[in-house]
Amino acid sequence: MSTVLAIETSCDETAVAIVKNRQICSSVVASQIPVHRQYGGVVPEIASRQHVETINNCLEKALQDAQLEWASIDGIAATCAPGLVGALLVGLTAAKTLAIVHRKPFVGVHHLEGHIYATYLSEPSLQPPFLCLLVSGGHTSLIYVKDCGVYETLGETRDDAAGEAFDKVARLLNLGYPGGPVIDQLAQVGNPQAYPLPEGNVGLPGGGYHPYDSSFSGLKTAVLRLVQKLQQESQSLPVNDIVASFQESVARSLTRRAIACALDYGLDTIAIGGGVAANSGLRKHLQIAAEQRNLRVLFPPLKFCTDNAAMIACAAADHLNRGHTSPLTLGVQSRLPIPEVMQLYQTSQ
Ligand code: KG4
Ligand code: ZN
Repeated sequence: MSTVLAIETSCDETAVAIVKNRQICSSVVASQIPVHRQYGGVVPEIASRQHVETINNCLEKALQDAQLEWASIDGIAATCAPGLVGALLVGLTAAKTLAIVHRKPFVGVHHLEGHIYATYLSEPSLQPPFLCLLVSGGHTSLIYVKDCGVYETLGETRDDAAGEAFDKVARLLNLGYPGGPVIDQLAQVGNPQAYPLPEGNVGLPGGGYHPYDSSFSGLKTAVLRLVQKLQQESQSLPVNDIVASFQESVARSLTRRAIACALDYGLDTIAIGGGVAANSGLRKHLQIAAEQRNLRVLFPPLKFCTDNAAMIACAAADHLNRGHTSPLTLGVQSRLPIPEVMQLYQTSQ
């Protein structure tokens, strides 16, 4: 039973949490979205500076909210990959410093393993194996979760991530940043059947399509062409119908691939993670399809779907329970495939 304090600074949220195995003692998230909104996306240099300015307050609040002394904390963790290098360095350096000062084990955590562990926070009895559909601003992956630290990527995007597609479509329609929540809201009052759009399939050299991989950059281009065509034809753009059709296409294609993958690999549970898990269209499609196929689909509460440190602490606690710790020489990596996650640890058991 490990209690872990974790820091997450891989992108535009400064987050600190304290978690006892799968139970949250405190979770603080300071979002930088208002700062980056004016630039239409995350500016890495500004993200790093904001993390430096915010992290001490977040640490203080997480400790206060949990009402815990350092003596009750068994380990200090931080996201070390993948993500923005400068941003990751802020959290990693703070965590290593705390580990040295308080003489605690240090645990580096893979950001995507954190998203997988977000499901355990709301479903503490869940056990592998299961399939995780990870859909965020940086990732679109179907991951076979076999055990703590043991993962196989079965499907991924060949270009844009699902969240990135939402952000880019929102930008071309001048809807602001981030695109997902605003598109989701406008899509509620639009007609999802208004415009047929491609479903981001990846063609195979021998013909047919890859069953689990996606390519969303073509879908984004199809939306751009549609907007250009409609603008030529009339003055007012049916934005609600365009975004509803776009969302429908993303939700339908992600659902089709996730269900096929779970059935092909004999997995009866699909856990969803990442910011796009908040999408109402995706939730609706997945729930209906899963019910038809007798599969269980788990959506963590929205606050655990987007970036937070509780999911990082939960992953770190599991590694710590198994005697996995990281050397203080561990660095940050902008990319690290999740099947290689065990390279972050030295085992003492
Ligand atoms: O997981 P996350 O907080 O950050 C990482 O990328 O790691 O995900 C952020 C992404 C953004 O691209 C945002 O547009 C998208 O999640 N998002 C949504 C919704 N809420 C957030 N996409 C679709 N529908 C939503 N309701
Ligand atoms: Zn994330």
